[in-house]
Amino acid sequence: MKIMQTVAAANGLSLQASERPTPTPGPDEVLIRVHAAGIITAELDWQPTTHKADGSPRSNAIPTHEFSGDIAACGEGVKSFTEGQAIYGMNDWYQEGALAEFTVAPATSIALRPKSLSYEQAATVPIGALTAWQALTTHGHLQPQQRVLIHGGAGGVGFFAVQFAKSLGAYVIATASADTIPFVKSLGADQILDYRATRFDQELRDIDLVVDTVGGETLARSWNVLRSGGRVVTAASDIPDDAPHKIKDAFFLVQPDGKQLSEIAGLLDAGKLRTFVKAIVPLQDAEQAYNQSISSALRYGKTVVALAP
Ligand SMILES: NC(=O)c1ccc[n+]([C@@H]2O[C@H](COP(=O)([O-])OP(=O)(O)OC[C@H]3O[C@@H](n4cnc5c(N)ncnc54)[C@H](OP(=O)(O)O)[C@@H]3O)[C@@H](O)[C@H]2O)c1
Repeated sequence: MKIMQTVAAANGLSLQASERPTPTPGPDEVLIRVHAAGIITAELDWQPTTHKADGSPRSNAIPTHEFSGDIAACGEGVKSFTEGQAIYGMNDWYQEGALAEFTVAPATSIALRPKSLSYEQAATVPIGALTAWQALTTHGHLQPQQRVLIHGGAGGVGFFAVQFAKSLGAYVIATASADTIPFVKSLGADQILDYRATRFDQELRDIDLVVDTVGGETLARSWNVLRSGGRVVTAASDIPDDAPHKIKDAFFLVQPDGKQLSEIAGLLDAGKLRTFVKAIVPLQDAEQAYNQSISSALRYGKTVVALAP
């Protein structure tokens, strides 16, 4: 099968086209014929892209762990899916990813593709929506009427977080760049701060929950706006090893969850949740998607790699 794999380059990793044998699904796994894969631009810098789970170096990783496609084969014990079904989902960062004609995932990490979405639209959803949902509920315990601040409200995680927080009955404040403020407003945010023009921690107080997708100084200043007992959760992947405990404690890693993806598919099909494709590129141009050199009319949404059917 055709793949794109990481190779060492002068400034980190670049991508190289190659061929590999089509993988075989193990017990409780499915083989997926990939139609589209969603790009998280920071992924090539993540530890699992360069290291194995045991900490040893990893090379020639196939990146991109969210996808949509069709079930090509089911491993032993898989009862919830059958060959030919259209699905979407994610797999583990340490597995080989979806910049390939085929990928393998646990059957519990996928769900039927939302019927109202194309493969390309569906591939923008799994990681962004699961991260946003788990940040607000599992880790943030957001309650109706609470005040939530979402950093990066126009981003691939943030645009889902704004919509979910609104549907949970919260008062939603987001930070975003000036160009994307109308977009974040259209998602239902009650208040939006231009992060380049305003210091959010001079404007805001009594926040119940901060959901951070930016990291760095933005994350460090987030504790200043909390009410007593309020909390910060962050998905931002640039937490240094020597970061203070409170920052490390605020960090979480999204968990694959086929049941949550089924519920999210229902919201998408009911028109209660929207997703946004920024650009669609062929497999051979995946590197431009990572380094964000693809031109797009949109300033928001996720870039997707489409594989030939
Ligand atoms: N922990 C996990 O399990 C997990 C899962 C998914 C993603 N992530 C991580 O989460 C982060 C966000 O991912 P993503 O896919 O949402 O990225 P993204 O699509 O690139 O979105 C980032 C957003 O943040 C905005 N932004 C940049 N600087 C900002 C600032 N100082 N204040 C407020 N907003 C700012 C950007 O706005 P402009 O571009 O308009 O300036 C952009 O809209 C990445 O670090 C990613 O690696 C982690």
